[in-house]
Amino acid sequence: MVNQSVERTWKVVQWTTGNVGRQAIAAVLAHPNLELVGVYAHDPSKVGRDAADLCGLDRPIGVVATGDADELLALRPDCVIYTPLHIDVEEVSRILRAGVNVVTTSEFLTGTSIGADATKALDSAAQAGAATLFGSGVNPGFAELFAAVSAGISRDVRTITVSESADVAMFANDPNFEAVGWGRPPGDAGHAAAVQAATAVFADALDVLAALVGLCLDERTCTVEFAHATEDLDIPGMVIPKGHVAGMDVRWDGLVGGATRLGVHVRWVIGDRIEPPWTVEFGYVVEVAGDPNLRIKLDLWPDGDLASMGVDEFRDVGMRITAVPPVNAIPAVCVAEAGIRTYADLPVIAARMR
Ligand SMILES: NC(=O)c1ccc[n+]([C@@H]2O[C@H](COP(=O)([O-])OP(=O)(O)OC[C@H]3O[C@@H](n4cnc5c(N)ncnc54)[C@H](OP(=O)(O)O)[C@@H]3O)[C@@H](O)[C@H]2O)c1
Repeated sequence: MVNQSVERTWKVVQWTTGNVGRQAIAAVLAHPNLELVGVYAHDPSKVGRDAADLCGLDRPIGVVATGDADELLALRPDCVIYTPLHIDVEEVSRILRAGVNVVTTSEFLTGTSIGADATKALDSAAQAGAATLFGSGVNPGFAELFAAVSAGISRDVRTITVSESADVAMFANDPNFEAVGWGRPPGDAGHAAAVQAATAVFADALDVLAALVGLCLDERTCTVEFAHATEDLDIPGMVIPKGHVAGMDVRWDGLVGGATRLGVHVRWVIGDRIEPPWTVEFGYVVEVAGDPNLRIKLDLWPDGDLASMGVDEFRDVGMRITAVPPVNAIPAVCVAEAGIRTYADLPVIAARMR
């Protein structure tokens, strides 16, 4: 049986070349049904440089970054991979209105967490351009799909929880993490609310998981706990003073009729000199209460000789697993119904092997 959506070549534009964008370019080049036709760079110093140079490949691929959006839309790509630090609703609407599908990692799944007006604007633009907007990274995104598929071997499923836990010491200073407030003092009023706001896209992830398993949630709750440094922590780009926040446990739960049915939890720590002495799994754990009960751990490590690898190679794994799920979704997104679509609307997304 042939899946028609992948039996052709889809023309792709990469929109920005940060941590995730660089990995997305490499994933496109490795995909047998995708062709990189253009690259957008926000930073003027990147304009005019070969995409290979921007993402650290050893030989030019002949696709040069531009800061001119019109030039890229004139290429009539099938899809834009949109990975800026934050979603720009006007910019994405313009791409969709031009009839170009968009996959994005920029903290967008259903749109609920960015507000009704922004969601309506994006949906209207997609309808006008007969285009599709799809969001996924690893989490939120792939992790909820993985949880729903994992639960598919149990019957009478009562609860599903997916938990991410990692030591983020090497990238706590990234702009991505700015809003969660590493290093804030203990008992800082408003910190838990700030973390809840910064992670609100996980509420959308609960909705995607709910849609995948046929539930309709009537409540989404968020609880935040903090761990504190037991000594000054000198990490890349910042120092967290003793006693200040160096761990976060954020639990987004989805309820039906007052009962918790779904959970998307994240625990991030900065090293192990924290109190409480939380442990992390360095991966994703899915737990399902049903018949049978199940627990699945998704372990990840870089390909190659681990002994000779530096911190960057390990760090890149997180960016790679963020970029690859939306890249692999492109053929399905390009033939999906117009509008905002999630994993619950697409066929199974698998790897595409050569
Ligand atoms: N769901 C997940 O699993 C997951 C995981 C990790 C990250 N993410 C999300 O993925 C997105 C990209 O993350 P990242 O680590 O790749 O981010 P990043 O490297 O910090 O930034 C991405 C790019 O954004 C562009 N940019 C920076 N400031 C900008 C501005 N003021 N206006 C427009 N563009 C600007 C730059 O583009 P140029 O390089 O072209 O100049 C930059 O390289 C973020 O929204 C992040 O939260 C999602």
